[in-house]
Amino acid sequence: MNIKKRLLLSNTITVVVPFVITIIAAFLFIFISSTIFNKDVSYGNFKKFVFIKTQLSDTSNIVRNQTSGDMQNKKYQQYLRQRLSTINGEIIILKNSTIIFTSKDLNKIDIEKCLVEGNARSEKRLVEIDTISYMVEVTPIRFIDGNVGNVILIAPVFKYSSILEEFIIFIVAIFLISFIAVNIYMSYLLSKRIIKPLSLLSTAVGEISKGELSLEIIEVGDQEIKNLCADFEKMRIQLKDSIRLKKKYDENRTMLVSSISHDLKTPITSIKGYVNGILDGVANTPEKVDRYLKTIYSKSEQMDIMINDLLLYSKLDLSQLPFNFEKTDIIDYFKYCIHESAPELEKSNIEICLENNLDGLKYIMIDRERLMRVILNIIDNSSKYMDKAQGKITILLRETNSSIIIEIRDNGSGIDENDVNKIFDRFYRADIARSEANGSGLGLAIAKQIVEGHSGTIWAVSHENEGTSILMSFGKILNKGVL
Ligand SMILES: Nc1ncnc2c1ncn2[C@@H]1O[C@H](COP(=O)(O)OP(=O)(O)O)[C@@H](O)[C@H]1O
Ligand SMILES: [Mg+2]
Repeated sequence: MNIKKRLLLSNTITVVVPFVITIIAAFLFIFISSTIFNKDVSYGNFKKFVFIKTQLSDTSNIVRNQTSGDMQNKKYQQYLRQRLSTINGEIIILKNSTIIFTSKDLNKIDIEKCLVEGNARSEKRLVEIDTISYMVEVTPIRFIDGNVGNVILIAPVFKYSSILEEFIIFIVAIFLISFIAVNIYMSYLLSKRIIKPLSLLSTAVGEISKGELSLEIIEVGDQEIKNLCADFEKMRIQLKDSIRLKKKYDENRTMLVSSISHDLKTPITSIKGYVNGILDGVANTPEKVDRYLKTIYSKSEQMDIMINDLLLYSKLDLSQLPFNFEKTDIIDYFKYCIHESAPELEKSNIEICLENNLDGLKYIMIDRERLMRVILNIIDNSSKYMDKAQGKITILLRETNSSIIIEIRDNGSGIDENDVNKIFDRFYRADIARSEANGSGLGLAIAKQIVEGHSGTIWAVSHENEGTSILMSFGKILNKGVL
């Protein structure tokens, strides 16, 4: 539910429910008072009650506006009596405390009761005379001779008319109580649905601001709050990613700096040594100078390779190099790779061949240039770490239901079983490799980055002294796309 709807519903309930409760309570009141207490709260009674009250007060007003002479006038007394006859009213005129006219026989106590009740401030002004309830209206008058007196007007009323007032008080009280109760309950519900999720969100945001980014922001509450939570969650993930990326950048920079200073130091030291040799005249024959210069050249070349590898690895690591994927016929592609590397391998007495176990024409999506780098690097490793007089490299192509597996197998020195998984780590080089062969130690780490950039996998299998296999698997294209 959204907040707008919830507020509308809550406000409607706050207004409607107290009304419904009041109406039910009113019916219950009427039912209980009429059946159990035998008190009738009918509208007819109410009307009658009001009519008697207005008649009495109208008559009282007439009396108040008359000259006192009229009060002793028999005709006027009869007129007043006549006027009250519609409500069976009675009239008693007192001069001082003496009755000078009465239409009903009342004893002194009843008259006193009437005077007390009539002068009272209460709204009811009811007296009970001979078990009948009378409404009383007392009007003070002054006679011509200076004496004071009172005109008492009484009219019988239904005995329990007063229940109407109780009824009104009751329903007003019920309405107020239910209104307050419903209000409190609805506010509680609203706070549970709106304020609680907001406070949860505020706690989560507080955690984020402290740098704690691992706590997931759960979507709770109404739609708008859920959306807000989702936005904050997106922000948290982006923030986390950017921090992770920044950390990676930092690590990368540190790695570059440390590896440049460490791995480039060795060739630089030897270049310096050879240059010094030439400058100091240690290389005293043209042949020696030539040998020194050739060594300097090869060391510089090694440095060049290392720097290029480092830069490439660093760019791949930060996903800064876009891949240019093309649909490629695998067999054609590998034939081309063999064609590229065969002449160089021949010099080292290494034979290279393709063993195709694929079922017909097969395509994969690859960045031809980048993957070529990977394959040439693997072939280059096979040639570098070849310890047999007659070397052999075989590229085996086979397939599973969803992928193409490429295995590049050589009959070289093999890799120690414990090191097989380490060769894809950056700068990992087996001890012999470190001491003998040229290289940056980044070749297979770069290969891994590139293969993973193709959503493929790369791994190695060592055949101990019989050679090494580097395997790669790529998703197949089945008619429409990559599987
Ligand atoms: N075909 C292979 N035969 C034996 N050892 C290998 C072979 N390929 C890779 N290695 C080992 O894996 C290490 C990492 O290879 P690589 O990342 O290409 O670095 P580099 O070639 O510069 O040494 C090599 O130093 C070597 O010890
Ligand atoms: Mg290599």
